[in-house]
Amino acid sequence: MAQPLLQVEDLRTQFFTTRGVVHAVDGVTFHVDAGETLGVVGESGCGKTMTALSILRLLPDPGKIMSGRILFRGKDVTKMTDEEIRDFRGNDVAMIFQDPMTSLNPVTRIGSQIEEAMTAHERFTETLARGRVIELLKRVRVPAAESRVKDYPHQFSGGMRQRAMIAMGLSNEPDLLIADEPTTALDVTVQAQIIQLMKQLNRELNTAMMLITHNMALVASLCQRIIVMYAGRIVEEGPVEQIFKSPQHPYTWSLLRSVPRVDEARKDRLVSIKGLPPDLSHSPPGCKFHPRCPFVIDKCKDEPEPPLGEVATNQVARCWVLMRNVKQDDIDAAKQSALSKEAAEKLKAPTAELGGTIGG
Ligand SMILES: Nc1ncnc2c1ncn2[C@@H]1O[C@H](COP(=O)(O)OP(=O)(O)OP(=O)(O)O)[C@@H](O)[C@H]1O
Ligand SMILES: [Mg+2]
Repeated sequence: MAQPLLQVEDLRTQFFTTRGVVHAVDGVTFHVDAGETLGVVGESGCGKTMTALSILRLLPDPGKIMSGRILFRGKDVTKMTDEEIRDFRGNDVAMIFQDPMTSLNPVTRIGSQIEEAMTAHERFTETLARGRVIELLKRVRVPAAESRVKDYPHQFSGGMRQRAMIAMGLSNEPDLLIADEPTTALDVTVQAQIIQLMKQLNRELNTAMMLITHNMALVASLCQRIIVMYAGRIVEEGPVEQIFKSPQHPYTWSLLRSVPRVDEARKDRLVSIKGLPPDLSHSPPGCKFHPRCPFVIDKCKDEPEPPLGEVATNQVARCWVLMRNVKQDDIDAAKQSALSKEAAEKLKAPTAELGGTIGG
């Protein structure tokens, strides 16, 4: 089999705090193939962003990669020299964050920023870079690119800023684009445009993507494969359609039943799963999801967490029970209790139409 573009092996990232050691990423293994789109989902605080920042070695203090390997085209990112890592960040991989305003320099013109991103890594000469800026802005569908290239970030709308960020991310033609909630701060129409744009880029440039999001509809429309994270661990992984149709981990099943609104603001976390994810400095023993799981059995509490086991072709899950073994009556009861909460939410605000097909 061909070598994957990115192979993360047993990655452990921790924060040493006064409260104790936070196991933000706790033995995570996955890969991204060239040209592939991988979705990374899970509730707030489950380690999605820290996984991404570990890959780029951009962890905030006091975060530290404790063990594991991050192989990009076979080369271990954790062992790269400062110069190699700069090169890697500039040429091989790009990251788009949720809020483009925090990543753009407010006092530098958009065009100059994109140009700087290109020349900083010596892949393009200054003249060549200048010529490419407008072309890039056109590619990400910024209207009137020829004149807008001279604008400052505050003269751009939120959606246009996000497009400028994508243009910057793509300026060095990276093989991997990591997008962390790239559309959450945008309104629904602009979200749809950005999604469309990312789809096109993946098709036209064969850029592999790792898309981190709470939005299952986004995953449905963009991704081929999905990993589901809970409490710093991967609990299920597989092809998107298959997982949506037949999730095997009760956490994935619950997550798919608690689809957030497309226009949801970041402060509105997923609410329909009872309780909260654990504090990652004090995770429960056994399966980390057991205190919230509607289908918990004694084994889930008493035995160490189960390993990821094959549940179908290309699909793995970390669970002693598995959804296919749960009685329909128990599923109905769990749905009922989740529904009452959803219904209550609906009374507060009408749910927006979702683009993707969600199973479960
Ligand atoms: N600076 C820090 N100090 C201590 N712990 C931290 C720090 N930054 C993150 N963490 C912990 O790391 C864990 C993983 O956080 P991460 O940001 O990866 O979550 P996430 O899945 O991206 O959540 P969200 O969906 O809200 O973005 C969290 O439990 C968080 O408390
Ligand atoms: Mg995050």
